[in-house]
Amino acid sequence: MKRKEIKDILLYDETLIKNDRVFDPEYTPDRFGFRDSQLQQLTYNLRRGIMGGNPVNSLILGPCGTGKTTSVKVVFEEVEQSSDKIVPVYINCQFNSTPFQVFAQIYKKVVGHLPPETGVPLARIQNEVMRKLQRENRCLVVALDDIDHLFYDKYANDILYDILRAHEKYPGVRTGVIGILSENEFRFILATKVHTVFHPSEIFFDPYTRSQTYEILRDRVLHGLVENVLTDELLSYITDLTIDAGDLRVGIELVYRSALEAEADGSRKILQEYVDRAHAAEARTIHLKRILQGLSPPEKALLKILAENQGEMPSKQVYTLFEDRTGHKLKKYNAVVGKLEALRLVDAPYVKKVGRSRRIILRYDENDIIRYLK
Ligand SMILES: Nc1ncnc2c1ncn2[C@@H]1O[C@H](COP(=O)(O)OP(=O)(O)OP(=O)(O)O)[C@@H](O)[C@H]1O
Ligand SMILES: [Mg+2]
Repeated sequence: MKRKEIKDILLYDETLIKNDRVFDPEYTPDRFGFRDSQLQQLTYNLRRGIMGGNPVNSLILGPCGTGKTTSVKVVFEEVEQSSDKIVPVYINCQFNSTPFQVFAQIYKKVVGHLPPETGVPLARIQNEVMRKLQRENRCLVVALDDIDHLFYDKYANDILYDILRAHEKYPGVRTGVIGILSENEFRFILATKVHTVFHPSEIFFDPYTRSQTYEILRDRVLHGLVENVLTDELLSYITDLTIDAGDLRVGIELVYRSALEAEADGSRKILQEYVDRAHAAEARTIHLKRILQGLSPPEKALLKILAENQGEMPSKQVYTLFEDRTGHKLKKYNAVVGKLEALRLVDAPYVKKVGRSRRIILRYDENDIIRYLK
């Protein structure tokens, strides 16, 4: 190795990533192209709510990574800036799937803080929300993202009914719902389950074409990476991998991880080998992401506790934090640990000491867990 090369590595303090927020799954891009007609339909459906009428309910449909969630967030941001006649509430049903959880989120937005966790009946929470809307003559619009999660516990109908029929109990109250669904087949389930209250106008999000995908990714590179780190040819290569995966998120993640691989190697440019390495890592985590998606809130809470504590802790400590955060007792805790063990997400060996104490050990990288649990 030449002396100059050694020096290069030693003095190398540059990063290839200019702004890593741009690669965050929650990031809303400044430029959100190719979705004008969907944004327009969504906005039209809400407009009547601003004019003092009832908003038109919407059902947003389309495959993964086609901008459904982002579109709702973009429109909600605009609504909030331009009128106080509508209260838009975004709810991710993966994390809020019971009527209480859903209404707690609505309450938080309308009243300004979360309701107390225990002892307050659902009806009282709903009453406070609806009375306040009535007094202020504001229209409530609730976006239920990944609404299929409400089907598992058969709450979908109750929740939609309580939101959409509120005017029967509280005259003058105006409400609307935006449902968001990734899987087309759920559309028919939804139609049979809640056909009496929810008559949505459907808005379709079709997959991005190859050139649209390329352009979106190029925009991310421009905002997120230092100039000239990634060639057009390699971006084109990443685009192909993204199209194969059928989810734009894969491409965004690949750009980011390739840059990290290059950095770790002390390279100032992203080379194909880094993309391939990132791609292989991505393939490994796809499995993890799928499992995480199907977990219940207490199961996710436990993983998060471990991830926040270097991935390993005595069971006793995990339980204390778990009880604090979820309110669940030992029986539930043991059941959750058992399930996470069965899914091979954690190990829970007994340690040779007094009594039967266990350690809970995460089997995956804690940063990955935190990232994908978001
Ligand atoms: N037109 C676009 N321009 C820029 N970025 C986009 C565009 N569409 C989607 N994205 C980005 O792709 C990622 C996925 O988008 P989003 O979460 O909105 O998809 P989705 O349709 O809700 O997916 P899912 O069905 O999996 O929930 C996000 O990082 C988002 O910023
Ligand atoms: Mg989404």
